[in-house]
Amino acid sequence: MVSPINPMLKEPLPEKDSTAGIERPLALLKHIPEDPVPLLGLANHSIVSARQFSHEQIVQLCRLAAKHEAVPVQTRRPLVGKILISAFYEPSTRTRLSFESAWHRLGGDIMSITDPATTGIAKGESLFDVAEMLNNYGDLVVLRESSNDAIYEMLKALRIPIVNAGNGTDEHPTQALADIYTMFKWRPELMDEHVAEGHRAKIGVIGVPSRMRTVRSLLYLLSLFPRSFEEVVIFCGEDEVFAKNQRENLKELGLNLRVSTELNKELPNLDIVYINSIAWVGDSYEELGKEFKLSAASPLKKGAIVMHPLARGDELATDLDDTPHNWYFAQARSAVFIRMALLTCLVQLNW
Ligand code: CP
Repeated sequence: MVSPINPMLKEPLPEKDSTAGIERPLALLKHIPEDPVPLLGLANHSIVSARQFSHEQIVQLCRLAAKHEAVPVQTRRPLVGKILISAFYEPSTRTRLSFESAWHRLGGDIMSITDPATTGIAKGESLFDVAEMLNNYGDLVVLRESSNDAIYEMLKALRIPIVNAGNGTDEHPTQALADIYTMFKWRPELMDEHVAEGHRAKIGVIGVPSRMRTVRSLLYLLSLFPRSFEEVVIFCGEDEVFAKNQRENLKELGLNLRVSTELNKELPNLDIVYINSIAWVGDSYEELGKEFKLSAASPLKKGAIVMHPLARGDELATDLDDTPHNWYFAQARSAVFIRMALLTCLVQLNW
């Protein structure tokens, strides 16, 4: 007997979800006056830390990303003839593919290393020597490495920009760019110089700032907008919530930080809930903060958005996917456009 055809194949493909249209990036684009000057300072620079960005650069990067997302037909192909070296020495779905998608969309070519065992590193070649070679083979390197220090070792030899795509437990600056771009697409008025009392956002961050690279980079970027984010509540059950001086530095930058362990009690007051419970440590991952979970049954505020850099574990239930709280898929989509914006600014273009 012929087996019945899968019913899914009889239906047309689903339409894009409401966070994937052009309306939101278009609104953001209209909200921000164009000023290319802050972006000129990024040309021919490496990006290792979220601390390298200024408030004005973030605003203009978000504007440029919104332009790429809202009016793709106007996107020129400035990276034709340029080669990206995409070196991922640790697994990745979103970061590698969105960087490569961004570079392709800008017209460039890509060489990809997804396994260091296929390079001289397997024979003991130093990162310094590998970096020296890369100078001759491409125009920009994107590196993910499980050690915090590898990127700094390569920087010593590189004469082309390198972008940190996650260095151990230290930072993931372009993830934080995708995060903040998503927040501003959700509510463009958060970018205003003076956000009115009562319109500022309260954020809950479920994670460990001392050891989660996504959280570490995000907190730096949030600290550039202290008037937009009324309070950042960290949900963490660990003893060592912050690294040495981290909390003091963020407070000095104006971030209003508080630590709590009572997630469900606080959820009804939070506008943005950022959850992430996976952290790479060495060659494997440890799951941090597993006691804090979100599902459709969680007492989320009406209109609140949930963000997660993904990959998720059971801390983020799939029954939230079909609710308006789901902004984590939008966040992954944002990554393409914000990386397009960043890459065009970093590569030295010869007009
Ligand atoms: N957000 C993120 O870094 O995802 P990947 O590990 O899939 O790149």
